[in-house]
Amino acid sequence: MGAVDRARLAAGLARELQRFRDEHPRSRALHERARAHLHDGVPMSWMVRWAGAFPIFVDRGEGSRFTDVDGREYVDFCLGDTGAMTGHAPAAAVAAIKAQLDRGLTFMLPTGDALEVAAELSRRFGLPFWQVATTATDANRFAIRIARHVTGRPRILVFNGCYHGTVDETFATLAPDGRVVARAGNVGPPVDPSVTTRVVEFNDVAALERALAPGDVACVLAEPAMTNVGIILPEPGFHAALRELTREHGTLLVADETHTLCAGPGGCTRAWGLQPDLVTVGKPIGSGIPVAVYGFTGEVADRWRARSSVELADTGGIGGTLAGSALALAAVKATLTSVLTEEAYARMIPLAERFGAGVEAVIDDEELPWIVKRLGARVEYWFSEVPPRNGGEAAAAMDADLDRYMHLAALNRGVLMTPFHAMALMSPATTAADVDRHAAVFRESVEALRS
Ligand SMILES: Cc1ncc(COP(=O)(O)O)c(C=O)c1O
Repeated sequence: MGAVDRARLAAGLARELQRFRDEHPRSRALHERARAHLHDGVPMSWMVRWAGAFPIFVDRGEGSRFTDVDGREYVDFCLGDTGAMTGHAPAAAVAAIKAQLDRGLTFMLPTGDALEVAAELSRRFGLPFWQVATTATDANRFAIRIARHVTGRPRILVFNGCYHGTVDETFATLAPDGRVVARAGNVGPPVDPSVTTRVVEFNDVAALERALAPGDVACVLAEPAMTNVGIILPEPGFHAALRELTREHGTLLVADETHTLCAGPGGCTRAWGLQPDLVTVGKPIGSGIPVAVYGFTGEVADRWRARSSVELADTGGIGGTLAGSALALAAVKATLTSVLTEEAYARMIPLAERFGAGVEAVIDDEELPWIVKRLGARVEYWFSEVPPRNGGEAAAAMDADLDRYMHLAALNRGVLMTPFHAMALMSPATTAADVDRHAAVFRESVEALRS
């Protein structure tokens, strides 16, 4: 079929939008009513960005599926954009959370679960010391603060097109002329991000070296493989160079494993034998209870302690009243020991391979100039023949109309993909039948562009 016919695509999109409106009357009515007291009719601003004319409202979810208020069931490959990578309402975590509900939720005192959580995280990621935050955003903010504090340096470095949560310093991007500028849409940046942040393209070792050379960068904050501009894998030697250059220039390396936890039980850090100074992880580790963790080396711990005092522990800008709560720790313990287990990954990763093979079969049959990319249990397809090497190339390869059509066609046929990309995540509850359902829906959506 070659490149997609734009007229057929426009007609297909109009058809799918009409079908979406016709088949979701209750969601539509709820969205209209919600406008009375919710900004744009949603409780969180990103929820306006789904492919339909309005968001679908959820009734309930279980395992790999959920049902909307119109009674339609979906196979969920979005999984709360990784927040529900455990599958919905995983039994072991739900039981632990329910048990904790009867025993008190938050004390600003530790519970015994904290010890087991930290020991298991140490085993998985190879870092000895851990702390708990409420969100991955917070974990990243705290990692940056610690890095600044112990190095005495003002700046951080991120890769172009990154996403690490709503962390002010990371809302920076490269302009075409190479300047660091605020990301489009950045709401009320406290300072010009070029003051706080250097940005280079992923996989560009020479640019990284130039950016670290002035010796003023406290840390590089990086996903080991980028996942928020689509999946961008490191080229051979990139991680070795990143580690070597950061060490050489006295810069700490922070691995944000929040999404790359899809690579295995210890994220890319363990899967690829990386040696970050700090690791952050959030989203699914509490099976949906808001909680994140950050770990660090003994050296970072010593340097932090040497510059802090117990009397000032509550005024350092790190922590939070509900961080490390009894509820959060009960949820993390159950998630790590009974849900996102080694055995679960041994099922999830082959399912992602099966998902990719199903998509590739259609791409081959239809002779589409598209490709599939995968990182452990996460898989996606790209509307381009050449895999992007960095955020800039990824942004240039986006096809907004095609992306919207594919999402909406899938949604109308009972399959939810991650918004903003054509990305799917496997949970421990995902089945081969779920994956094959996507393959059939993908084929139907592509074929509809031909007739
Ligand atoms: C890699 C990464 N880190 C951190 C975050 C922030 O997570 P949260 O919004 O739960 O704070 C995200 C969110 O998408 C993410 O993708």
